[in-house]
Amino acid sequence: MVLKNLAYISVSLIVLSACTQGEINTVDGGDKNAEVNGRLLYMNQCASCHGAKGNLGNSGSKDLSKSKLNEDAIMKIIMEGKGTMPPFEYLLETDQKREAVVQHVMSLRKK
Ligand code: HEC
Repeated sequence: MVLKNLAYISVSLIVLSACTQGEINTVDGGDKNAEVNGRLLYMNQCASCHGAKGNLGNSGSKDLSKSKLNEDAIMKIIMEGKGTMPPFEYLLETDQKREAVVQHVMSLRKK
């Protein structure tokens, strides 16, 4: 009986972790979380040069908290790169991801 219970517990653990996995994937593609996603994507792809707040200035990068560029111009730089900044067209492979990063960059500006 004890053994049976143990087996049951491990099966439910497996099922549970499978469910969590699925949930993470849905959240990742969800529009409602664009700001959350944008921040995460930014931290992964951009913060090494620009810093979490946009003003790190590594590798000669511009201070994003003081940038005056509009959303279209930011999108163009993400797609094509500029100077020593590489293009991110393939690392941010969907419009949704790029748009989320653009929104996060806009949110770094001091109001
Ligand atoms: C390898 C370092 C590096 C990484 C990583 C990087 N950048 Fe840059 N970024 C730069 C540099 C350098 C410049 C200045 C380019 C120039 O004007 O010559 C720049 C400029 C910019 C500008 C223009 C700012 C202005 O006002 O002119 C934006 C917007 C920008 N980066 C956004 C991003 C975003 C968004 C990401 C992540 C997807 C990113 N960068 C990742 C180095 C980087």
